[in-house]
Amino acid sequence: MDKEQLKNEIGRLRREKHAVIMAHYYQEDDIQEIADVIGDSLALAQQAAKTDADIIVLCGVHFMGETAKIICPSKKVLIPDITAGCSLADSCEAAALKSFIEENPGHTVISYVNTSAAVKALTDIVVTSTNAVKIVNSLPQDEKIIFGPDRNLGNYINSLTGRNMLLWNGACSVHEQFSLQRIMQIRQDNPGAKLIAHPECKKEISGMADFVGSTAALISFVERDSATSFIVATESGVLFEMQRRCPTKQFIPAPPEDESCSRNVCKDMRLNTLEKLYACLRDETPEITVNPEIASKAIIPINRMLELSK
Ligand code: 13P
Ligand code: SF4
Repeated sequence: MDKEQLKNEIGRLRREKHAVIMAHYYQEDDIQEIADVIGDSLALAQQAAKTDADIIVLCGVHFMGETAKIICPSKKVLIPDITAGCSLADSCEAAALKSFIEENPGHTVISYVNTSAAVKALTDIVVTSTNAVKIVNSLPQDEKIIFGPDRNLGNYINSLTGRNMLLWNGACSVHEQFSLQRIMQIRQDNPGAKLIAHPECKKEISGMADFVGSTAALISFVERDSATSFIVATESGVLFEMQRRCPTKQFIPAPPEDESCSRNVCKDMRLNTLEKLYACLRDETPEITVNPEIASKAIIPINRMLELSK
């Protein structure tokens, strides 16, 4: 089947099966184009909580599918490629986090949504990069907090809130790859272009950015800002929605250290393809499952996040 036929077939199956296709901004353009919902991690969780569809096809990485399944235990949650993982989620094993919590008693545990269900089950409040500062600020100033797994996001939140959260030493291998030197060169070659960065980037990048925010926050920034050119330091899939909303503005993907690449891509996010999306809707597999005991614990900090994000 060619691309158009695939898109038509996906549309037909989606209607017949009463399915909703949700996609993260890092998905390939073709998937974002046909998705019913495109969003950041928070929006995908919020939409999962709202949908009346029978099947959710989550075009993103495994933890996003798990989060949707925990929110909607009675729905079928599919993911085009079940092996789509996340280096950041992998940097925090539940058993190791459990020991860390035991070594540091008396702390509230805040986990970034980029974690396994088992880690969420050990957590008091889940956050995303959209709501993390707001949620941390909602806690008493003297509350002792463990934050994980992203040390860059943790440091960023500490700097904005004046907290001293105890940080897990994890990171996203994609966001850590941006080259400061190459970004500075692009800035020099494009005077007037604003640098915008995701808080998962290293401090050397986010510290010199004109704006730092989640994917959704970056998209709304470029829409409302008067600049006409932006250097974008996050996974380059986000450029699709930026260009769609602002067709006359210029978006330059911030490059990684690897000189042979001009843009930074999350290999896991890109494991999902139109072909796999079609096959997954047709065969209703691969399906995300979560151990019910873990899910019953993990839903508590997810619901706290959804409540605190209203
Ligand atoms: P957001 O879209 O929530 O900003 O998250 C970025 C990310 O890395 C998701 O894996
Ligand atoms: Fe995980 Fe990083 Fe990929 Fe996001 S970009 S899914 S944090 S590996």
